[in-house]
Amino acid sequence: MSTPPLRGALIGYGWIARHGHVPHYQAAKDVTILAVADPTPACRDQAARDFPHARCYADMASLLAAETELDFVDICTPPCWHAEYAIAALDRGLHVLCEKPLATSTAQATAMLQAAERNHRVLLPCHTYKHAPVVRAVRKLLDDNRIGKVHLVTLQTFRNTHAKGIADWLADWRREFRYSGGGIAMDHGSHTFYLAFDWLGDLPTGVTAHMTAQGDWDTEDAYSCTLRFPDGKLAMAQLTWTAGVRRVYYTLHGEHGAITVQDDEVELCVKGEPLAGGNGAVTWSYEKIACPSDWMDASHVGWFGSLFDRFQATIAADQPVSAELRQAWMCVHLIENSYESARSASVARDLSAPVVALSQPAASGRP
Ligand SMILES: NC(=O)c1ccc[n+]([C@@H]2O[C@H](COP(=O)([O-])OP(=O)(O)OC[C@H]3O[C@@H](n4cnc5c(N)ncnc54)[C@H](O)[C@@H]3O)[C@@H](O)[C@H]2O)c1
Repeated sequence: MSTPPLRGALIGYGWIARHGHVPHYQAAKDVTILAVADPTPACRDQAARDFPHARCYADMASLLAAETELDFVDICTPPCWHAEYAIAALDRGLHVLCEKPLATSTAQATAMLQAAERNHRVLLPCHTYKHAPVVRAVRKLLDDNRIGKVHLVTLQTFRNTHAKGIADWLADWRREFRYSGGGIAMDHGSHTFYLAFDWLGDLPTGVTAHMTAQGDWDTEDAYSCTLRFPDGKLAMAQLTWTAGVRRVYYTLHGEHGAITVQDDEVELCVKGEPLAGGNGAVTWSYEKIACPSDWMDASHVGWFGSLFDRFQATIAADQPVSAELRQAWMCVHLIENSYESARSASVARDLSAPVVALSQPAASGRP
């Protein structure tokens, strides 16, 4: 027997909602959008064109007051509202899909986890990169034990500008701390850090960071950090909005090989037999795997169906606080601490005593 479609509302109808989420909602049979909330008239007009049967509201409180048939909300506002809106929806008994970053402070993220637990409703962060074909290919190589246990990862994200929001609202909100809670680390760091947690199979215990900003903005545009993990494992990340290219480079180093990712291409390198001479030299074998992932499309619309399947599966599994949610909490906690580190001459910050229970093992990474 087929289950009835999930009934949802979109909160914030800007760039990611329209280009990253809506195409799936319009095409899928198992979800229906009943309502939209956005303070910007042009966005509500667009929503009315995209979903002629949906009701449009200027704010989320009015939507929650009027709508009685909802199963979930999908929060696509700038981060400053994520916590308040997610908690309001959870307290109304709704499931919540929330864009990254989960929140702009540890205190907010903790309150969100507690609201999910208290109401027994799913709160799932949009950890979209886990659903990229190239990241799935890396997960398969790790599951097949091709490089052994991973002890070091490097993650670089190069962008030639900050992403722009829609012009009808405030295109440069990412550079204003009051809306974004931070610069490139707050905006992009979640994607970097949940991949690091997944690949190292752990959560970090410490962070040291540096950051800089050009121009008059109050948020950073270049950022680097080192994360310490249990058993001496390490992740090093570099993120910038001032690069001369748009690209991601990731490397994973394991007991008997390495995986390198450059946008759509994965290279596997495996250590072979010792060479004669006894100076430690060995043979190496290389394998290239092409995984078209459409990195240039920042909406990542092609990955959203898999993410939404994960949201539905988490609801079906009755799992309010999933491994992804714990990872999202740690992303916010570490970004907050890394800002403290960067502001205080890059002193190391301790992450090993989290204020919420994170005892579950890190997610296997399989969406
Ligand atoms: N997962 C990803 O890869 C990805 C990619 C892009 C953006 N995002 C995230 O999506 C969120 C939105 O980013 P965007 O690029 O779509 O921004 P945007 O500026 O294009 O859209 C923001 C929308 O929110 C609306 N809004 C503003 N205040 C509101 C309020 N109080 N209540 C309801 N709506 C309000 C604006 O009118 C606008 O329509 C951010 O959290 C961002 O980090 C995620």
